[in-house]
Amino acid sequence: MRLLKRPTALQPAVSASERRLFGGPLRYDAGWSNHDYARLEGRLLSTLRSMPRMVAGTLRLAWDTDRPALLTVAAAEAGQGVTSAVGLLVLSEVLRTLLGAGTPAEGLHAAVPALAAGALVAVLGAVLASRSTAAAGRLEPKVERAAYEQYLKAAVEVELEAIEDGEFRRLLDSAQWGPPSARRTVGACVATLGGIISLVATAGVLTVLHPLLLPMLLLIAAPRGWGAMRVAQRRYLSVITWVEHVRAARLIGQLLISRTSAPEVRVHGVGRYLLGHYRNMAEVAETEATRLAKDKAATELLAAALSGAAALVTYGAMVALIVTGRMDLAVAGTAVIAVRTGSASLGALVATTNTLHEESLYVRDLERFVAEAGRRAIPDGGLPLPERLGTVRLEDVRFSYPDRDEPALDGVSLTIEAGTVVALVGENGSGKSTLVKLLAGLHLPDSGSLTWDGVEVRDADREQVFDRVALLTQDFERWPVTARTNIAIGRPGAEGDEESVERAAEVVAAARYAGADRVVEKLPHGYETLLARVFRGASELSGGQWQKFGLARTRFRDARVIVVDEPTSALDPEAEIAAFDSIRGLTGPQRAVVLVTHRMSGVRYADVIYVLHEGRLVEQGGHEELLALGGRYASMFRMQAEQFAQQPPTLSPSPSPSPSGASPIPRQAGASPNGTSVT
Ligand SMILES: Nc1ncnc2c1ncn2[C@@H]1O[C@H](COP(=O)(O)OP(=O)(O)OP(=O)(O)O)[C@@H](O)[C@H]1O
Ligand SMILES: [Mg+2]
Repeated sequence: MRLLKRPTALQPAVSASERRLFGGPLRYDAGWSNHDYARLEGRLLSTLRSMPRMVAGTLRLAWDTDRPALLTVAAAEAGQGVTSAVGLLVLSEVLRTLLGAGTPAEGLHAAVPALAAGALVAVLGAVLASRSTAAAGRLEPKVERAAYEQYLKAAVEVELEAIEDGEFRRLLDSAQWGPPSARRTVGACVATLGGIISLVATAGVLTVLHPLLLPMLLLIAAPRGWGAMRVAQRRYLSVITWVEHVRAARLIGQLLISRTSAPEVRVHGVGRYLLGHYRNMAEVAETEATRLAKDKAATELLAAALSGAAALVTYGAMVALIVTGRMDLAVAGTAVIAVRTGSASLGALVATTNTLHEESLYVRDLERFVAEAGRRAIPDGGLPLPERLGTVRLEDVRFSYPDRDEPALDGVSLTIEAGTVVALVGENGSGKSTLVKLLAGLHLPDSGSLTWDGVEVRDADREQVFDRVALLTQDFERWPVTARTNIAIGRPGAEGDEESVERAAEVVAAARYAGADRVVEKLPHGYETLLARVFRGASELSGGQWQKFGLARTRFRDARVIVVDEPTSALDPEAEIAAFDSIRGLTGPQRAVVLVTHRMSGVRYADVIYVLHEGRLVEQGGHEELLALGGRYASMFRMQAEQFAQQPPTLSPSPSPSPSGASPIPRQAGASPNGTSVT
């Protein structure tokens, strides 16, 4: 009886390891998938009813990517259905002729035309099947690609806030299974379509032979259908409920083999520690797999027994019909074959419908993700920004991260003028990086206003805001690409433009500007060296060397507002002085530099220094002014100066050329019409 209950979502066990490592179960709270639970608890019929809606998305993708292939598949499958029906009728004719003739030889002779027709129909069926296979094979990868593209495009277009939101990330994660499922959905659709058509054909033939045969066929296949559907529902529920558990175990696996964790894994014995937890978590997951397997075995056994009983009844009824003379032998012969092929194709149909159902659940996750990503996407269009940069102004800006009560920025008002260097200082967690993200248009203020030359950033064309910003964050990306591309990726070029001689020269100039050229000289293949140790022939850089590449990338981007967050934290003293000099050298009449750093020596020549404390702006002014004020800035500055027990390193007061002595890259005052400035 337990088997007849509807599957429901179970609360999986929480392993002790999950509690220790993650403070509790690491799995989805299923808030977003309640919808599916509701449907899963529905019955077979409602599942079948919802199917067209569920496969509609995949079929639409198929229609958009390769219409001829989709039509070919549909036509070939329909053709096959017709050939199988005709085949059965021909078979019936052959049997009738054979049984009705006097001698077997006469019978064979009389049956030759029907046999020839049967052979022709079989050949036609085979040709149609091969056409369908070829077209479906062409279609499937295209659909997967289109679905994956849809997924990635939706993911890159959402606001940063969505990416940082755990709930959205879960959706992002589960939607990854959508594209391969879309591919399999195509295959399952084809099989289901073929199954339905050939079943309708067989059913038609059976009805013509005897009206009782069709209900009997359904009786044989129904239990198997129920069993397969139930197993699929269980599996889906299990996957959804356990997905974070699986992810947590995978995370541990990745930590164990990652390059960055390798030293601690060895020296601190973290390897053994995590491996133990991995085993613990895997064992808990295995109990779930065992439960599923047992349930599946029991379900299938019950289904097979019911189906067998139905077959017995069917054949019994046929014998009774023949004995009582209500069915002739030729019809009975064809009927046996038709029932066999019919129940086999009904069984296959149930299996494919089932696959279709299961796969379409994952495709639904993808569709839900794309819809949610659409709601959280960075809006397209908006007010244009003036070509020339004047002032970026923040007035009474307040911003809180979604999962935090305390605001990260509270009532901040400041201005950034073209042609100036602005420094942001403050202790850890004071809100500097958050301010930088707001400036770059990555986050929008909760209240207050942030304007670019009078245009509220909320209403502005965000594409244009991004175009005007070069951002070197604390955790800038170390792309696993060549040294050249690592710099050039600061301003991705149009296709064709990538190879241009001018662009190559600009890369070299940007590298020279940041002191990365000396790093490149030592690389085995110069600018073409792959910077990712994990790949063959690649080289790895030190933290400071990477920072030089980050700076070169920022220089190459050549934007109007250049934001550098802790650009020198890993640089040696000499490189640091050079870097601060070069950063100041970036300013121009149309360019502003926003410098975030804890190195007070780098701050002193900024035109304006803003001091943040717990999300509030507490001091502002020039270096001397703030020293004279004797507040937070003055004490931070003195503390560092005392720490080194000497004067802070002196910087030349005027913007100087790049460290290697080469002249900076010539800049153009104007900007291209699309808003990206060119050098
Ligand atoms: N993505 C985030 N989600 C939630 N809270 C965040 C996030 N990033 C930062 N915070 C919080 O916002 C506050 C300000 O952080 P922010 O990174 O802006 O500080 P910061 O001044 O750059 O510090 P640091 O000098 O250490 O780089 C901190 O309390 C931090 O915990
Ligand atoms: Mg920071």
